[in-house]
Amino acid sequence: MFFSNLITFLFCIVTVSSKAEKWYSAAIVDRRNSLHNSSNLEFRTNYIQNNEHPFLPLMLIDPKKSNDGRTNFYSAQKFNMNSANSSSESDSISINYNNTIENLNVLNRIRPKRTKIRKRCPVARPRQINQSNMKQKSKTRFLEVFQVVEFDHVSCTSSSGLEGTCLPESECIDSGGSTMGTCADGYGTCCVTQFLCDGRSDADSGWFTNPGFPSPSTDRLSCTFILDKTSEDITQIRLDFNNFELLPPTDGSCHDDQFIISGQNVNNVIPILCGINSGQHVYIEVGEVDGPINFTFQTVSSESRLFSIKVTQLTSSDELAAPTGCLQYFTDTQGYLESFNYRDKSDIVIARTPSYLNNLNYAMCIERKAETCSVTYTNTGNMQLVNYDTDGLPVIPPDQAGVEILNCPSDWLLIAATRLCGNRLNDGSVFQDFTVNAPVTDNGAGPIVVWFRSDESYVGVGFKLMYQQNSCNA
Ligand SMILES: *[C@@H]1O[C@H](CO)[C@@H](O)[C@H](O)[C@H]1NC(C)=O
Ligand SMILES: *[C@@H]1O[C@H](CO)[C@@H](O)[C@H](O)[C@H]1NC(C)=O
Ligand SMILES: *[C@@H]1O[C@H](CO)[C@@H](O)[C@H](O)[C@H]1NC(C)=O
Ligand SMILES: *[C@@H]1O[C@H](CO)[C@@H](O)[C@H](O)[C@H]1NC(C)=O
Ligand SMILES: *[C@@H]1O[C@H](CO)[C@@H](O)[C@H](O)[C@H]1NC(C)=O
Repeated sequence: MFFSNLITFLFCIVTVSSKAEKWYSAAIVDRRNSLHNSSNLEFRTNYIQNNEHPFLPLMLIDPKKSNDGRTNFYSAQKFNMNSANSSSESDSISINYNNTIENLNVLNRIRPKRTKIRKRCPVARPRQINQSNMKQKSKTRFLEVFQVVEFDHVSCTSSSGLEGTCLPESECIDSGGSTMGTCADGYGTCCVTQFLCDGRSDADSGWFTNPGFPSPSTDRLSCTFILDKTSEDITQIRLDFNNFELLPPTDGSCHDDQFIISGQNVNNVIPILCGINSGQHVYIEVGEVDGPINFTFQTVSSESRLFSIKVTQLTSSDELAAPTGCLQYFTDTQGYLESFNYRDKSDIVIARTPSYLNNLNYAMCIERKAETCSVTYTNTGNMQLVNYDTDGLPVIPPDQAGVEILNCPSDWLLIAATRLCGNRLNDGSVFQDFTVNAPVTDNGAGPIVVWFRSDESYVGVGFKLMYQQNSCNA
């Protein structure tokens, strides 16, 4: 008589042929009111059944709660496959669900290697079936609802906040990833490849995080991650500093904490970084080396440090690839150029001392957008690029813009072939009053590059410039 309650089982079950494991993705569609209040027990989908994991997790779906055509999973129940009446004869298993035994047919299908098509399990139409005809009809009935769940391997945000890829749990574990939260309506897990201290990997992308991330790490760190090139045609590695908080430099040098990159092309100088660099990114040239590339964090004391760095290996044809030699590459029509350790906002309340670093010499490149003919730079922050003469006196008065080599002998930005420094951004082309900021426009043809150089002593706060590419009709 239990079918008078009308339960529709919707099972998505795949047998992995290469291993003695079964891969399940299972759900129950339940239309009984009594279950609508069941508690939100934890559930796992895309389940590998083996001795460690005897439970088949089943989700209860309330179709009445669906909105926008999306399935609304509202509760879950765990099933013990060992104690349940389960028989794995080629194409059928039995499920003991609250003392109700159902014979279910299993589609013996090989799990697809890489699913690209999104296809939902079709929900079986509710049909009134009584006890007497159920036995003969159940086989065909359940065959109708068995389907392999496929979903796009799109990016997802994991429970730790890191970007991952939506994968079946088994595929994530096979690829060495960490499962962090669910995606694809619960059928997939958000799979994050983590690069950890003292680890080594050749994955094409992953996250290098401090021990204990997303919590800060309070141990003194001497931590190297070794990255092998995924293939010979990898030419660049892009690092995105989602979080980057180390102790600040002292007089422009990273004496205390250091982030060091080594193993890249011999002529590709990457500055040793410290301080707060969250939101920054760098490109590393690796086209002329076989690898590996080492990423090392060295800290001097047991204070809080936080880092999560997205590491992406790129070939020259990759969309993210930058022109050779650009330490930073900006592809938007409008954006910000900011010196390293410019920020004074700390998420973990470490010491904050905005200042750029000594001995910098790098290029910030901007992708020229279609139908734009010039770029205008404006000072949006507390600019301070300092220059001192041989007697140790400032070259230009405070609160003024400096222009050209006599004003800016040692620390300067190069925009439109003009050295700029001081406490204001003004090249004198619009306003001759160097105590005010004035937009600087570069209408040169060719690559759009802003250079930044600093010498081995005397540092200031740095710069934060907004750039805007201008239409050719303007
Ligand atoms: C749902 O369950 C909770 C706890 O068992 C109970 O307090 C509540 O009254 C239930 N709600 C409904 C609508 O049955
Ligand atoms: C399994 O099924 C058989 C026959 O239906 C029954 O006698 C037995 O008690 C069941 N075992 C369990 C663990 O439910
Ligand atoms: C399980 O069965 C008991 C007794 O028949 C019933 O009271 C309970 O509501 C059922 N639970 C579920 C989740 O169906
Ligand atoms: C149950 O099935 C039998 C045999 O198919 C049929 O004669 C009977 O009318 C059905 N009862 C209900 C309530 O559907
Ligand atoms: C990278 O680290 C390994 C292990 O510490 C070391 O043997 C190797 O020399 C390092 N390579 C570079 C380029 O620093």
